[in-house]
Amino acid sequence: MRRGIIRGIAAVGAVALLSLGTACSNHREGSTSGSGDAKGFAKNSLVGVALPAKTSENWVLAGDLFTNGLKDAGFKADVQYAGASTTVADQQAQISSMVTKGAKVIVIGATDASQLSTQVAAAKQAGAQVIAYDRLITNTKDVDYYIAFDNYKVGQLQGQALINGMKAKKPKGPWTIELFSGSPDDNNSKVFFDGAMSVLKPLIDKGDIVVGSGQTAIKQTAIQGWKAENAQSRMDGLLTSTYSGKKKLDGVLSPNDTLARAIITSVKGAGKPVPVVTGQDSEVESVKSIMAGEQYSTINKDTRKLVAETIKMVQSLQKGDKPQINDTKSYNNGSKVVPAYLLPPVIVTKENAAEAYANDPQLAPLTK
Ligand code: BGC
Repeated sequence: MRRGIIRGIAAVGAVALLSLGTACSNHREGSTSGSGDAKGFAKNSLVGVALPAKTSENWVLAGDLFTNGLKDAGFKADVQYAGASTTVADQQAQISSMVTKGAKVIVIGATDASQLSTQVAAAKQAGAQVIAYDRLITNTKDVDYYIAFDNYKVGQLQGQALINGMKAKKPKGPWTIELFSGSPDDNNSKVFFDGAMSVLKPLIDKGDIVVGSGQTAIKQTAIQGWKAENAQSRMDGLLTSTYSGKKKLDGVLSPNDTLARAIITSVKGAGKPVPVVTGQDSEVESVKSIMAGEQYSTINKDTRKLVAETIKMVQSLQKGDKPQINDTKSYNNGSKVVPAYLLPPVIVTKENAAEAYANDPQLAPLTK
């Protein structure tokens, strides 16, 4: 979905971008309320959580956090993952079953944004409320709220990190890059890409950045299913078609860590120097790679915070209150503008990793 906000990113310097995470949380304090129906429901009701396939560590973590967090908050929880191959059908069946079991709220991390309208319509008809978690559900009026990290900002941070990383290695351009984007069935993929291109395109237009292959359309850059093997084979192909001679690759925009590591594997396999590669999700292997000076950046989207805020949303709905939201214009899903609660993402490089993960018991030790 195209986002409504025009952001004057060109005017924002690298340093300012690094601190945007904090600035945003302040800016969002004056939140407004959403559009929930104010009836409430019994405290020990069933809450369904339908998550996509485990395409990155954040999804694995989210499942456990929802199971325990919902239980601690006094709800019954039904947490399901779509299987690795029949993801769409799996998720549709799981949501239908949650509706049949009488779930009062269904939290959905969509495996395919546009394939759930029948299931969420049934959920609404049965009196459940629907929260889109991390990924928007599109082309339906039957989604009440959206909760996620600010995806457009994720893209902007990735674009700026790519520039910063390349400048640090080679102060003067032009720099040669390649662009990768996420799975086309995930609404986030376009939002990440648009955010990144809002930063990169002005430099591409000036000739300071050159996309070596010429592949700049999102369709050409998309990695189906967010699968590492698909990213690796696209990078293998690019290396053969465009970089077999003397041309040097300075940077790669990668939308997440899983794909970043696949891209790095491909480049190393071809015996080429590792370019500046961005990422997202703060996956363990990527944080190690960043500390070892290989992958350049990732994004910290603390899943613990996102799940905790989602559970708060469920608690508000249980009481019949309107949940806190802080965005009423960015996420038009094709049928309505979905009221959203967006959390600020944080860019992480080797320089600020220790600080960024100071409160993360798993990642903090990796940065020492
Ligand atoms: C999430 C990313 C994740 C990707 C693949 C996206 O929708 O926002 O954090 O890397 O899915 O799992």
